[in-house]
Amino acid sequence: MDAADGVIFVSPVYMYHITSLLKNFIDHFAYLVHRPKYFKKPAMVFIHRGGMFNEVITYMERVAKSWGFSVVAKLGIADLDDLTPNYREKSIKELQRETEKFYNAVKTGKLPSPTLTDLIGFRV
Ligand SMILES: Cc1cc2nc3c(=O)[nH]c(=O)nc-3n(C[C@H](O)[C@H](O)[C@H](O)COP(=O)(O)O)c2cc1C
Repeated sequence: MDAADGVIFVSPVYMYHITSLLKNFIDHFAYLVHRPKYFKKPAMVFIHRGGMFNEVITYMERVAKSWGFSVVAKLGIADLDDLTPNYREKSIKELQRETEKFYNAVKTGKLPSPTLTDLIGFRV
């Protein structure tokens, strides 16, 4: 993460959450919370499978933000083979849109301004 221009956090859904492997990784780096180490680094959150994306994405986004990352892209995608053609097309478009957002942020270094809530996490 230190050497990267941007980081993509990826996990399948296991029992309505990220995998224990990723959770171990997160716990290991708990000391980074509220530290500015990754300010100005873009991150993307990509959760695979299941219908519980939103909760899992929200959790992973919260972790990445608390480490100082700017989460510029996020999405949840089911197994494309399981989807109807319409939904598959929609998912692929969403995947392209979000990866492009991440790619552009890495390339240009332009990141959205932090929200008030983001700032409070580092200032209070
Ligand atoms: C222990 C376990 C728990 C899972 N729990 C869920 C779940 O809660 N929701 C879901 O949609 N899929 C669930 N799945 C399916 C996985 O998300 C899916 O198979 C995924 O492709 C596994 O990725 P992997 O092969 O990289 O482990 C679970 C799979 C395993 C092995």
